[in-house]
Amino acid sequence: MMMRITKPSIFYAVLLLVFIVTGCKQSKKESHSEMETVKTESKQNPIEETIFGEMPDGTKVKKFTLKNEAGMEVDVITYGGIITRWTAPDKNGLYEDVVLGFESLEPYLDGNPYFGALIGRYGNRIANGEFALEGKTYTLAKNDGDNHLHGGEKGFDKVLWNGVAKNTEEGAVIELTYTSQDGEEGYPGKLDVKVTYTLTDNNELDIQYEAVTDKPTVVNLTQHSYFNLSGQLSEQILDHEIYLNADTYLPVDGGLIPTGELRPVASTPFDFKESKLIGKEIEADNEQLKLGKGYDHCWVLNKGEEGFGMVASAYHGETGRFMEVYTNEPGMQFYSGNFLDGTLPAKGGGTYGQRSGFCLETQHFPNSPNQADFPSVRLNPGETYTSRTMFKLSTK
Ligand code: GLA
Repeated sequence: MMMRITKPSIFYAVLLLVFIVTGCKQSKKESHSEMETVKTESKQNPIEETIFGEMPDGTKVKKFTLKNEAGMEVDVITYGGIITRWTAPDKNGLYEDVVLGFESLEPYLDGNPYFGALIGRYGNRIANGEFALEGKTYTLAKNDGDNHLHGGEKGFDKVLWNGVAKNTEEGAVIELTYTSQDGEEGYPGKLDVKVTYTLTDNNELDIQYEAVTDKPTVVNLTQHSYFNLSGQLSEQILDHEIYLNADTYLPVDGGLIPTGELRPVASTPFDFKESKLIGKEIEADNEQLKLGKGYDHCWVLNKGEEGFGMVASAYHGETGRFMEVYTNEPGMQFYSGNFLDGTLPAKGGGTYGQRSGFCLETQHFPNSPNQADFPSVRLNPGETYTSRTMFKLSTK
């Protein structure tokens, strides 16, 4: 049947047109505001990509949100490869953020003690900011008293990484890559680095590092998350129990450089072979604790240099949150957040006061380039540096 064109039908047609046009405008607006939210959908693990902030030169810093089936979420930004948020369930299923950090980019740029960041080229200290390789001495920034710390003035924690979201059989993945030029921060060789964060459905965050160089160099990468499993990020972590599978640790000098001795932990406050409260002996009358203002030492993991296994755990009794750490690294820097001083604002209110977070930094030993007896951190052209650390969260 032919439709007759009547006045009311013209009216409705115009109305429809107006609807369509405004509808389009509306959806354009929406797509504009969502422009920065690209969703990489997969069966199980959608990875959300948003803009976290802008660098002073206008470059955008991306944030990827990894999610798993259990409900865990991990936010990773391309600045420093920083984990800015990590939610974990307590024994009643309540998900709370368990890592120190900030809600926006600015406080990260303003300076902070490596919250959640990737550390390189050399995690931890190199004495006097100097080391020799093949007869040549390399000079690095002395950015920690007389020593070099965590890669220098602009280490991997302060560079922009290239980030790509992927879904794999294992879980949601963020692959971060960065090329450190020959001579950057004083280190020899152009270093191509790849770090992947994989969030599995078992509440594991698996971190895998790889690097190749075009000249002999030294590499020691780690992840510097500060945990507070209570979910109350401005509160002290002294009520967490720590387990470290280590018979010995590396005592340090006044600049926190290992003396070279492997000292037995037995009958000292450094014995964490049986799970023990951080607060239990942290104030003990012990020279090493005084030098570190608490725990800030590298434990020599019993598993040796090779093999991937569970080496440490942390437990918060009140919430039941339990974290296990697996690695193939020979050392673990357990840092009890002694230098946090209450000047930085905490997510969720308050400030990050002394010992409001602890770090379990898997790594080769500090100052290895100057300690022939420590496992080597040298990387040659043609070789691939690999390192792996997994944090597994559960409750008990
Ligand atoms: C490391 C060091 C500590 C401290 C923090 C950052 O873990 O071992 O001494 O420098 O980083 O504040």
